[in-house]
Amino acid sequence: MKTIIEPFRIKSVEPIHFNDEAYRLDAIKKAHYNTFLLHSDDVMIDLLTDSGTSAMSSAQWAGIMMGDESYAGSPSFYRFEKAVQDITGMRFVIPTHQGRAAEKILFSITGGKGRTIISNTLFDTTRANIEFSGAEGLDFICEEGKHPAIPAPFKGNLNTEALKQYVEQHGSAQISMVIMTVTNNSGGGQPVSMANIRETQAICRQHNIPFYIDACRFAENCYFIQQRETGYKDKSIIEIANEMFSYADGCTMSAKKDAFGNIGGFLALNDEALATECRNLLVITEGFPTYGGLAGRDLEALAIGLKEVLEPSYLQYRIRSIEYLTQKLLDAGVPVMVPAGGHAVYLDAKAFLPHISQDQYPGQALTCALYTKGGIRGVEIGSLMFGKYDENGVLIPAALELVRLAIPRRVYTQSHIDYVAEVIIEVFQDRTNIKGLKIVEESPMLRHFTAKLALIS
Ligand code: F0G
Repeated sequence: MKTIIEPFRIKSVEPIHFNDEAYRLDAIKKAHYNTFLLHSDDVMIDLLTDSGTSAMSSAQWAGIMMGDESYAGSPSFYRFEKAVQDITGMRFVIPTHQGRAAEKILFSITGGKGRTIISNTLFDTTRANIEFSGAEGLDFICEEGKHPAIPAPFKGNLNTEALKQYVEQHGSAQISMVIMTVTNNSGGGQPVSMANIRETQAICRQHNIPFYIDACRFAENCYFIQQRETGYKDKSIIEIANEMFSYADGCTMSAKKDAFGNIGGFLALNDEALATECRNLLVITEGFPTYGGLAGRDLEALAIGLKEVLEPSYLQYRIRSIEYLTQKLLDAGVPVMVPAGGHAVYLDAKAFLPHISQDQYPGQALTCALYTKGGIRGVEIGSLMFGKYDENGVLIPAALELVRLAIPRRVYTQSHIDYVAEVIIEVFQDRTNIKGLKIVEESPMLRHFTAKLALIS
């Protein structure tokens, strides 16, 4: 088999600012050992997120000029609405400025004190919006998903036995919804199988629980279904997506991921009364229902992006580039989550830095080391992001200590990826010199964004 090449040529480029290790040591210290607090000019390869960082296509840039900025009834909205409906089949499409705005609206209405929302794994902003409404969020990830080093085809699946047991014990009246995250971002970008979606929906239907999809990376998930699940080899991505969404009552999506948008999101649903309530909230928070916090030009670019993401050559290249980096690391003995996920490589920081205990944030320590050594910015998905305190103020650590290296869509070439592998391997060889961290300042919610840390000497 020949090399799978990038299915695009490059028309416009952005410079990378080079700097050296001494400069970066100073920069990370000034950023209080939190990569969110770095200036991005000081980052050479930015793998902080795949969200809003895609390179748009020439067709999308042309769409920007076609954007109609009418306050109400813009044709750009109707093109966006159609693109969403062609994929999801949902009746009501509500644009928002990004994914969490859709979550905020949905959970303000369906959440609240005493309510429960269940997921395979909630993303951090999703959980925060649920908890902010007063509701509780529960993650029921399948057993395979808890073991980074053991490969399985669908490690993002929801544990349907746990869901059944929970409903048996607690009843279903207080459960606002089950929301399935595809692919499962916080669980390693791992896909969810169609069988698991079908089974989860059947349980929901039996107990009158609405079933939703957090659809940020739906196309990557559909590609995995096509490649790995029996019966889908000959189906197109759009056919698989149509089937997947046919099981759902609604979905939220951050269009900053699989729609190649630099900004944007939406809420789509079938329930007319709920859609009306959501639109009422939309008007006071985001904007009029035909733009909802976006410019007409954004809606136009997203409508085009939602079609481009379904192209087989794109998805093949996309998934292959993540697999390529994962394999290089595995070959060098670096502990990395397997199999490769859809949008990111996840380093297992617990196994990478066994000398750093969880209350000294090994994931964050590794994130800082990658930046210092090679100017690469990743993000900790571990106890800094998800840790809680017990009543005595002792850290309840996260189940997994991961460092996510999210690959922006259509942005970096193979030599950038080769460089990333070289830096990680060098850091791995020198791992015993990496020190743990302590928190010196934190906020009560989503603390990882702004926390200040210090080295433990
Ligand atoms: N759901 C999932 C699964 C996500 O990954 C994200 C964002 C959101 C919801 C919220 O969307 O950012 O548009 O408000 N994830 C980004 C990330 C930030 O880096 O993984 P948003």
